[in-house]
Amino acid sequence: MARLIFLWAITLALVSIVNAITLTRLFEIQSNSRNKRFASNKIAESSALGPFTFPQKVDHFDRKNNATFSQRYWLNSTNYRPGGPIIFFTPGEEDASSFLDFLIKFETSLLAQKLGGVVILYEHRYYGESNPVSVRRTLVIPVWFWQRIYPGKPNTFEEFCQVFNNATTTSAQVAAYASWYTVYAAAADTCEANQTQDDCFGSYDPKNSFYTNTTLNNAGRSWTWQLCLEFGYWQAAAPKGHPTLISRLVTAEYWQRQCPFHFPDSILPRKPRTNYINKKFGGWKLEADHIFWINGEFDPWRPLSVASPNAPKRLSTEKSPNVVIKGAIHGWDDFWSPTIVIPEPIVEVHNQLISSLSGWLKNFNATK
Ligand SMILES: *[C@@H]1O[C@H](CO)[C@@H](O)[C@H](O)[C@H]1NC(C)=O
Ligand SMILES: *[C@@H]1O[C@H](CO)[C@@H](O)[C@H](O)[C@H]1NC(C)=O
Ligand SMILES: *[C@@H]1O[C@H](CO)[C@@H](O)[C@H](O)[C@H]1NC(C)=O
Ligand SMILES: *[C@@H]1O[C@H](CO)[C@@H](O)[C@H](O)[C@H]1NC(C)=O
Ligand SMILES: *[C@@H]1O[C@H](CO)[C@@H](O)[C@H](O)[C@H]1NC(C)=O
Repeated sequence: MARLIFLWAITLALVSIVNAITLTRLFEIQSNSRNKRFASNKIAESSALGPFTFPQKVDHFDRKNNATFSQRYWLNSTNYRPGGPIIFFTPGEEDASSFLDFLIKFETSLLAQKLGGVVILYEHRYYGESNPVSVRRTLVIPVWFWQRIYPGKPNTFEEFCQVFNNATTTSAQVAAYASWYTVYAAAADTCEANQTQDDCFGSYDPKNSFYTNTTLNNAGRSWTWQLCLEFGYWQAAAPKGHPTLISRLVTAEYWQRQCPFHFPDSILPRKPRTNYINKKFGGWKLEADHIFWINGEFDPWRPLSVASPNAPKRLSTEKSPNVVIKGAIHGWDDFWSPTIVIPEPIVEVHNQLISSLSGWLKNFNATK
C-alpha cells in the first residue's frame, strides 16, 4: 500500500503538466475506488468463500522433492455455469487476505458474472500464510521511507492534490509541494523523540531491526528478496534533466547496497538477474496468443511493461489485444462494482476484455 502511494506521488510528478482539474478528477476516482477496495475488505469474509488450504509442492520441478507447505486460497463459485472459465487471481506483494473484495466485486467478479466463471483468489507463495519457509530467513518491518511519510492517512494525499490543484505553473507546484511536505509529511513522521536522524532514516547499520527482524508474514521483506534477486525495480530519482520528486540521493545504488544487509546469509548476485529473467520470460518481446495486455497511460509501472515507450512497438491483434487506457494510472481496470459509476474509458476496456474472452472460450470449448 505504501508502495502504491509512493508510486502515485511519482505519477503526479509525471502528470503535473496535465491541467489541474483533470488531475483532481483522476485522483477522486482513484481515491474513492482505493478506499473502497482496502477499507471494506471484510465484506467478502464468508466461510463459503474460504480460506481453504491444500498441501502445495515446494518444488514442482524436482520429482525427488516431496516437501509441501500449506497453500491458502479462497473461491467464489456462485456465478459458475458449465463451460465457464476459472478467473485465477494471485496478487503478488502482499498477504492475499487484503484482496477478499476481488471475490465479490472488481474486474474478477465482473468477468465471473459475464462469463459464468469461478473466481479463485490464490495467495502468492512467500506472502501471508502461504510460506514454505518456517525458520531462518525472513522479515524486516516494511518501513519504506514513504510509509513513514503517509502512515495510513488518505486525507494527506487529498491535501497533496489540492496543493497541486491550487498552483498554476510547474515552479509554483514545486514550491507548493515543498510547503505541503513541511506541513503534512514532516508532521506525520514516526521517528521517536529520542532517535537521531541516523537512527530513524539511516541505512548503513546492518544490525538495525529494519534488516534483522525475520518474523514471517512480512510482505516488505519478501518483496525486497524478489527485487534483490531478480527484478531490481529500484524506485530512484528521475534521470538528470528530468524533474524529480525523489531526492537525487536516492539512486539505484542506494537500494542495491541494502540487499546484503537484508539477506546476509544468502548468496545474492551482485546485481539482480534482470537479463536472465527477461531472457527466460521474453521481457518486452514476449509474444503469445490469448494474452490481453492492459496498461494505464500514466501508470508509473508502465516503463517496465510491454506498453513502455522504449519497448518494441506492439500491435493490438484479435489473438492478443493491447490496450493503453488513456488518462489511467495504476490498476484502474481492476475497479468494478455495480454501485460505482465507472469512467467510460474503463467501461470500454471491460467490454473489449469480455468480448475477447468470450470468443476465446467459445473456440476453446468447441475444440475440447
Ligand atoms: C515421493 O512421493 C512418491 C509418491 O508418493 C514416492 O514414491 C517417493 O518415494 C517419494 N520420494 C521421496 C524422496 O520421499
Ligand atoms: C460471489 O460473488 C457474487 C458477485 O459476483 C455475489 O453476489 C455472491 O454473493 C458471492 N458468493 C458468496 C458465497 O459470497
Ligand atoms: C518484527 O516484525 C514483526 C512483523 O512485521 C513485528 O510484529 C514486530 O514488532 C517486529 N519486531 C521488532 C523488534 O521490530
Ligand atoms: C486551495 O485553494 C482554495 C481556494 O482558494 C483554498 O480554500 C484551499 O485552502 C487551498 N488549499 C491548499 C491546500 O492550499
Ligand atoms: C528510545 O526510547 C525507547 C523507550 O523509552 C527505548 O525502548 C529505545 O531503545 C530508545 N531508543 C534509542 C535510539 O535510544
